[in-house]
Amino acid sequence: MSVEQALTIADLKEQARRRVPKMFFEYADSGAWTEGTYRANEEDFHKVKLRQRVLVDMTNRSLASEMIGEKVSMPVAIAPTGFTGMQHADGEMLAAQAAEEFGVPFTLSTMSICSIEDVRSVTSKPFWFQLYVMQDRDFVLNLIDRAKAAGCSALVLTLDLQILGQRHKDLRNGLSAPPRFTPKHLWQMATRPFWCLDMLGTKRRTFGNIVGHAKGVGDLSSLSSWTSEQFDPQLSWKDIEWIRDRWGGKLILKGILDEEDARMSLGSGADAIIVSNHGGRQLDGAASSISMLPRIVDAVGDKMEVHLDGGIRSGQDVLKALCYGAKGTYIGRPFLYGLGAGGKAGVRRTLEIIRKELDITMALCGERDVKNLSRNNLHKDV
Ligand code: GLV
Repeated sequence: MSVEQALTIADLKEQARRRVPKMFFEYADSGAWTEGTYRANEEDFHKVKLRQRVLVDMTNRSLASEMIGEKVSMPVAIAPTGFTGMQHADGEMLAAQAAEEFGVPFTLSTMSICSIEDVRSVTSKPFWFQLYVMQDRDFVLNLIDRAKAAGCSALVLTLDLQILGQRHKDLRNGLSAPPRFTPKHLWQMATRPFWCLDMLGTKRRTFGNIVGHAKGVGDLSSLSSWTSEQFDPQLSWKDIEWIRDRWGGKLILKGILDEEDARMSLGSGADAIIVSNHGGRQLDGAASSISMLPRIVDAVGDKMEVHLDGGIRSGQDVLKALCYGAKGTYIGRPFLYGLGAGGKAGVRRTLEIIRKELDITMALCGERDVKNLSRNNLHKDV
């Protein structure tokens, strides 16, 4: 089956499972501890019911919108994800190109395999950069400056990963980048020959934003050693100020899941917040993103843009988030599955599937413009 034959994100997920070595596929397909929040992110979308409307003119539909003042062909950005270049060789570069061609924002993670400069070298429009704050402030300042120098148009500051949630699959798989050459890892790779061939053709196999830039660091190939050695567990609201000052551009705060935190973010000078529980990868037992969205939208009113990340597996999910008042949404796993399944063409297919589902759903709800969606398109009591 080719990526063009995939009809759903679930199809792409199955294709990726067959193409990507287990440790990397499961890095994407995992949540913390029981994975309860990971599952709830998806399940709670199904509880939201759409109002079907009829005999409404459905011609001339538009999905175009804006996120933080940037025009987007649909309000769906590519989320920052770690190890992306391990789902497919040069993964971040390919996904950024697919997003650019599609007219949606691409967000590069600090924990990416391809570096800021790599992605810049293959794109012509600005992308967004996601920042983790390390204890080594010189390194962080330099990272911000590199993102600025690359022309990134937004900084996405992640707030919910000062320490790492435990993902059992990663520990059992011995996840690292580059992979270790134990018999188990060699077997996982040998059974994925196309992945290996692509990977042999690139030199990008470790954390490109870090290696060669950070000084005096130990074994950073695994995420847990990375975060426990390097991430700043003391990060606080007052740190946002120096980050914002150094950056000087559009700032998005990622990882707000509580109304009180949402209200606190109003004084931070940020342009948007992302309602997110890190895809269920941090605090297992936290509420799903979609269940918290309406009250967070109500808490900040129209003073700040609210975006949503977590659990989106279809264009219908995007529409539901927009109805609740999100100005934009993010897809993480859906694009990783597309990437693993078929590189750039796979990411393009992910975006096409989401766009088609969003468009058809919007039409059948009796709407023609994505900007007009509101809670009025949802049932309150069904
Ligand atoms: C890193 O951001 C992760 O969630 O693995």
